[in-house]
Amino acid sequence: MPVTIKSAEEIALMREAGRLLAKVHQDLGHELKEGMTTWDIDHLGEEMIRDLGGIPNFLNYQGYPASVCVSVNDEVVHGIPSKKRVIQSGDIVSLDMGLIYQGYHSDAARTHAIGEVSREASLLIERTRESFFQGMQYARAGRRLYDISAAIGDYAESFGYGVVYDLVGHGIGTHLHEKPDIPNYRQRRRGMKLKAGMTLAVEPMINQGEPDVVWLDDEWTVATYDGSLSAHYENTIVITDGEPEILTLTEEEKA
Ligand code: MF3
Ligand code: CO
Repeated sequence: MPVTIKSAEEIALMREAGRLLAKVHQDLGHELKEGMTTWDIDHLGEEMIRDLGGIPNFLNYQGYPASVCVSVNDEVVHGIPSKKRVIQSGDIVSLDMGLIYQGYHSDAARTHAIGEVSREASLLIERTRESFFQGMQYARAGRRLYDISAAIGDYAESFGYGVVYDLVGHGIGTHLHEKPDIPNYRQRRRGMKLKAGMTLAVEPMINQGEPDVVWLDDEWTVATYDGSLSAHYENTIVITDGEPEILTLTEEEKA
């Protein structure tokens, strides 16, 4: 399937899918506290998605068994919620989730600090978020796709962080994963020209240490090879002739 340009009507539906997901991220973020299990988090998240009229799009995706990916500390993405995994003060917890609203997908991730975390951990979270916005400077019609990648990667690497090479962002729309792939580091080429109406999920995954990752025995959880912390920040966006429209910012983030 080629990269698609969404119509105004489709974008309106994606806007709603994004707004609902942002609400879930905000509300679920407020519920996080030490002592919860990652299963509790998934359970709450799924309930919130369904209460708003959304369908969790991760659930059963290629066999993934939950609605929310919960990845703790050195886990990068795709952590499987478990009743045995208890969240502790000092942990950093990445929540990645998405939903379908009237056939259109949204996808977003945030990394949260639980209680008091180390200064290194909170800097990693903040700079991962900022790397996304560095990328956004190039996310407009007429620019090129990998200019976004380069801006994200160059910014993160300037702190000595490891940009995860093995996982990428993606187009999004009537499917969770559409073309194009969106790497988070500089490419040899500048990539395709961006056009108004493209809808993308841009998602830097940044390690405190080396970029290398491993897949755990559950065949989903991706963790850093060196055991260092990892953070994730993702939004669903629309390319326009001006500033990108970021569909999954929470009301608190917009304020
Ligand atoms: N959020 C992931 C992504 O951004 C998708 C997770 S798929 C799942 O591409 F199966 F793990 F849920
Ligand atoms: Co995604």
